[in-house]
Amino acid sequence: MNQQVAKFSRIGFVLSATGAAVGLGNIWKFPYITGVYGGGAFVLVYLVTILLIGASLLIAEMVIGKRGQKDCVSSFEELAPAGKKGWKYAGFMLFTGLVIMTFYSVVIGWIFYYMYISFTGLPVTIDDAKHIFDNLYAHAPFMQIVFHLLSVVFVAVVLLGGIKKGIEKTNLILIPFLLFILLGLLVYAMNFDGFTQAVHFMFAPDFSKLSAEAIIRAVGHSFFTLSIGIGSIMTYAAALPKHSNLYQAGLMVAFMDTLIALIAGLVIFSFLFQFGGTPDKGPGLVFVSLPVIFAKLGVMGQGIALVFFLAMAVAGLTSAISLVEPSVMYLEDRLKWRRKKAVVWSSLLYFVIGVLVIFSISDGYKGLLTFGKKSLFDVLEFSVDSFLMPLGGILIAIFVGYVMKRDIVEGELLGHMGNAVFKIWYFSIRYIAPLAVLFLAYNALKV
Ligand code: TRP
Repeated sequence: MNQQVAKFSRIGFVLSATGAAVGLGNIWKFPYITGVYGGGAFVLVYLVTILLIGASLLIAEMVIGKRGQKDCVSSFEELAPAGKKGWKYAGFMLFTGLVIMTFYSVVIGWIFYYMYISFTGLPVTIDDAKHIFDNLYAHAPFMQIVFHLLSVVFVAVVLLGGIKKGIEKTNLILIPFLLFILLGLLVYAMNFDGFTQAVHFMFAPDFSKLSAEAIIRAVGHSFFTLSIGIGSIMTYAAALPKHSNLYQAGLMVAFMDTLIALIAGLVIFSFLFQFGGTPDKGPGLVFVSLPVIFAKLGVMGQGIALVFFLAMAVAGLTSAISLVEPSVMYLEDRLKWRRKKAVVWSSLLYFVIGVLVIFSISDGYKGLLTFGKKSLFDVLEFSVDSFLMPLGGILIAIFVGYVMKRDIVEGELLGHMGNAVFKIWYFSIRYIAPLAVLFLAYNALKV
């Protein structure tokens, strides 16, 4: 079958968009920022943002893709009214995906390494664990490159298969598998006394702990976790059949994404509280605190560690696919490259910059790749979080809220949403979402 006209099935789309949304953001980042910002109150702000802003923008991005039916640049061009075709430049948000991949793929590489040490020996003390992580991070660039390459190759192979045989098929298998693992871990963790503490920590809000910074982080994370603002969801939605219900699909994806973040948090905090760790450990939470706990559980712990890191790898890889596909589709559809050539060049580009990212955190090389006080790794991550993604988010909101004809937008959603919900959604896209994004970008630049 010609891949360009291949369409997702309904379930294929929902699972693939869920695969895009559920990533390192859910299993690594959400639990650690929840820990750092004090638990319940932070979680509550995050849930409210997902509901009020995140889900609305997600649906808006789907509308552009489904209506445009093309790569991200051409979809903007197609849907912009005559005289406003310059909107096609908004489509270049698709390159943000490659920028994200320069560090995202490196982190997936770390997870592969942790799967490997689940077999060969987990650290027994916190000092050990810090040492192992630090060794990997700062002293083993070549090993990191090998694992980074492994992730690049996996993603490339899936992308070569196209929408149906590559992306849909992979997600149809891996996402149920991921859910199965996480639910298994949750059931296991429910037997701990630590589980009750975990529930309390995550769901009993203590507003005295809620700082302005926590709110900014919660809003920012709600974008990142739903994969908004770089054309990933738009590109997937371009392969939707005519009569798809975007409202339902959007809610479903937002729900699954949130559910998985909450399960991951509960599992991780249950282990921590049960075996004497503290939740506020920052980015090292899953790479430093957890391995020590798993080590305490002997052979059983090794198995749990392996399964846990496997789940993380699956979550990361299915997101990675969605980060590269927008570029591939653009090169293929608009510039008429062969799919293979598009996949190879996109992969090569972020692979090479990823290698520089690795050297930018390695002792002995990092001097060459530090800008001001920030390593290339930090510079790229920071520009994504505080500039590129907010920019993409606001362009999408303005385009759907003000530029696209209202009846096209209505035609896509009104029948499914009903009048009242549509009005609320449209209001959110026109006013709440742009203001929230501006607030986010403004505050991010201040720090
Ligand atoms: N949402 C993914 C995560 O939580 C990351 C991701 C995948 C992403 N595709 C994206 C983020 C598109 C922004 C835009 O890890």
